[in-house]
Amino acid sequence: MNCLNRIYSPQLDLIHSGKVRESYRVDSQTRMIVVTDRISSFDKVLDSAVPYKGAVLNGISNYWFEQTRTIIDNHLVKMIDPNINLVKEAVPIRIEMIVRGYLTGSMWRGYQKGKRSFSGVDVPDGLQQNDRFSTPIVTPTTKEDSDREISPADIVKEGWTTKTLYDKMEKVSMQLFEFGTKYLEKLGIILVDSKYEFGLLNDELILIDEIHTPDSSRFWSLADYQKNPARVDSIDKEFVRQWLLENKEDGKIKQKLPDEIVQETSRRYREIYQKIVGEELILDEKEEINNRVYKNLFSAELIKDGYVIIIMGSPADLEHCQKIKSHLEKYDVYVDMRVCSAHKNGERLPDITEVYNRSVEPGVVIAVAGRSNGLGGALAANLAIPLINCPPFKDKIDMMVNINSSLMMPSKTPASTIVDISSAALAALRSLNLQRLKEVFRKEIADVKQGLLEADSEIRN
Ligand SMILES: Nc1ncnc2c1ncn2[C@@H]1O[C@H](COP(=O)(O)OP(=O)(O)O)[C@@H](O)[C@H]1O
Ligand SMILES: [Mg+2]
Repeated sequence: MNCLNRIYSPQLDLIHSGKVRESYRVDSQTRMIVVTDRISSFDKVLDSAVPYKGAVLNGISNYWFEQTRTIIDNHLVKMIDPNINLVKEAVPIRIEMIVRGYLTGSMWRGYQKGKRSFSGVDVPDGLQQNDRFSTPIVTPTTKEDSDREISPADIVKEGWTTKTLYDKMEKVSMQLFEFGTKYLEKLGIILVDSKYEFGLLNDELILIDEIHTPDSSRFWSLADYQKNPARVDSIDKEFVRQWLLENKEDGKIKQKLPDEIVQETSRRYREIYQKIVGEELILDEKEEINNRVYKNLFSAELIKDGYVIIIMGSPADLEHCQKIKSHLEKYDVYVDMRVCSAHKNGERLPDITEVYNRSVEPGVVIAVAGRSNGLGGALAANLAIPLINCPPFKDKIDMMVNINSSLMMPSKTPASTIVDISSAALAALRSLNLQRLKEVFRKEIADVKQGLLEADSEIRN
């Protein structure tokens, strides 16, 4: 199934990996957030991803971001792919502003045990599960290794933010919640509770993260609630949770969903999208997601269209590698140099090759190792992309003695060897098979021919 589980590229700088989203550094003012199709249930990410889920969540959040700009400005710069946003980097205030309209979830579990004060808010006795509060309440928590309830007074006392900013966060959270509640009410959906995060941008408070998505909020169907308030469950996860509970294996929750459950879950997410945004979410199902992401990252100038990685067995070969690099740089591809010895720290190779093997964009690796060239072989046997050996040599004799180790590779070890530095670089670039470069190379080939013709006539004359 065509799902986005995670994106890989040596050109991206991963700064945070959450349960379903990954954040990348673009520059000091911009981050990129990828909303994947991963799904979590009972606090764990399942092995099955759900088609459309990421695009649904991202699309819904972006819709709300646009709708609520009059209440507060937010971090959204632009959506560059259905699953990917560019956002303004803010200084996050490490507090989750949770607004609750109903007594449910973790709060209900506490209430049942006799707890009546939540983040400094007192709630009355005699409430039932899923009862509506007379007005929504705000129960902030800290964003730490394990989230902690905290009262507004302590937020200020412990220095999480100032009183002025907290008051504004509280006011805005209530306004956002009210806006969402009213909007969804008309669609027969209850906004049960929601979590908002804020940050500072040039000392101004802005809304960050996501807003009113099924991952940051609980949605109930109004009809279900009216039928049986005690048994209502969130619209999106209910279906998956039910199935997992009814299909335990040796008393344990399964990690993988069968195809038909995945499909039905996907359909339900799309339905939520359609309801909230008011139009159908249409994605080209035939298009491989990694290809789509590649195109969109390239169009947004977040990556070059291809890469060449030069891996040397020892830093002693740096000069040789730099020469290769300088040949590559004229062609506007991404070039990186790395050090890893097959003999001495080959245990790093699986991690190194994983990113290249899964990258959204085309790439090539050039291995630089002399003597017994274990590096080229170890890489070629583990890479799903082309590998070219360009071994360094002190002199011609050194070359004659050592070249065998680069040429004599066992089966299923598709390394090619090119001795000339500029030719190795050109072979790498040709292996990328980019239309843009084919054009460049056609021109270069024609120029060489022309040069020879001119030389011929000049010399004859
Ligand atoms: N515009 C932004 N600027 C800075 N940090 C942000 C911005 N938007 C979201 N974040 C932070 O990025 C992280 C996103 O993480 P997430 O994928 O939700 O995983 P988790 O919350 O489980 O760590 C959160 O810590 C959030 O506060
Ligand atoms: Mg989060």
